[in-house]
Amino acid sequence: MKERTTAIERVDARAPDETVIARAAAILRDGGLVAFPTETVYGLGANALDADAVARIFTAKGRPTGNPLIVHVADAASAARFASQWPAVAERLATRFWPGPLTIVVRRTAAIPDVVTGGGETVGLRVPSHPVALALLRQAGLPIAAPSANRSERVSPTRAEHVQRSLGGRIELILDAGPTPGGLESTVVDVTGSDPVVFRPGPISREALEAAAGCPVSYCVPRRIDGVSRSPGMARRHYAPRARLRLCDGDTAELCRSRTRAGRSVGRIVRHPPATPEIEGVRSVVLPADSVAYAAKLYAALHELDDAGVDEIVVELPPDRPEWFAIRDRLMRAESKSASDG
Ligand code: TXA
Ligand code: MG
Repeated sequence: MKERTTAIERVDARAPDETVIARAAAILRDGGLVAFPTETVYGLGANALDADAVARIFTAKGRPTGNPLIVHVADAASAARFASQWPAVAERLATRFWPGPLTIVVRRTAAIPDVVTGGGETVGLRVPSHPVALALLRQAGLPIAAPSANRSERVSPTRAEHVQRSLGGRIELILDAGPTPGGLESTVVDVTGSDPVVFRPGPISREALEAAAGCPVSYCVPRRIDGVSRSPGMARRHYAPRARLRLCDGDTAELCRSRTRAGRSVGRIVRHPPATPEIEGVRSVVLPADSVAYAAKLYAALHELDDAGVDEIVVELPPDRPEWFAIRDRLMRAESKSASDG
């Protein structure tokens, strides 16, 4: 693909400069690509109504065209315009969780081009809460199709530097508002059936969804319908670092030492306070004990160890409790992807 210059603009996360936002909005209206922060991870945005612009997202990311994109909108009223059916449960979830890290999958209208949905008849809609994302949506006056701003199958970016490293030279602009506060991609819930189904666990738990929906909410067992995977992001091979990831239940010391003895360069990610504070020859990243604070820093830790060039990353598996569910989900996907690489 054509190499281009990627501009990076610093922008205040709480009070974004209107001239910078106006420039980004103009790029989107011209069919360009802008990476921007959301409360979860950085997104790679294009005008969702411009099929050519959206096609460029797939090229820039190396993303398979069957994997649908989330359409970001400024408010629930705009979301309803792109839905051919807006069930009462969608309204209840939107009222409770928007703006915020929830993507609601509904039947789409013809206004949404096929390239956005991977040819499917549904569309994922989300109103992000990050002030920069909201300012951009309002200024552009457009729905913005945006996957996470990383090369396909890799770890999502939580800082502008992560975006620059993977997509620099492929997109027009990166809005840099510092680290994203959440750090884990949105919960994706489908409301096209009788009861809602979670396609991707995330910051909003199934229990919280049930409380707001007033009905049972289940987890998706990934399956294919009409040849289109119902939620391709549920494929196990997503969200992986370059290094091989190994999950470890309990103290990581023994596994780290044996991998080092096997001649591998090893990094590790453990929770505070680590059972073994230092291991010779092993680069350690210590993350907070609290799940919300941990989620905010996990991807940056994976990027840091990847960039340091380690062969393997040993991660202490967090406890099997509801607040760690989405984090464990991402870690297990990352492990299975990297394991298949050998
Ligand atoms: O937090 C997030 O969701 C971030 C920020 C940028 O908003 N976006 C994000 O997008 O993670 P992406 O493309 O990396 O992941 C979107 C997930 C994928 O698993 C995709 O398959 C699923 O949502 N998805 C999107 N539209 C869908 C649809 N119509 N039906 C089923 N799954 C859908
Ligand atoms: Mg992604």
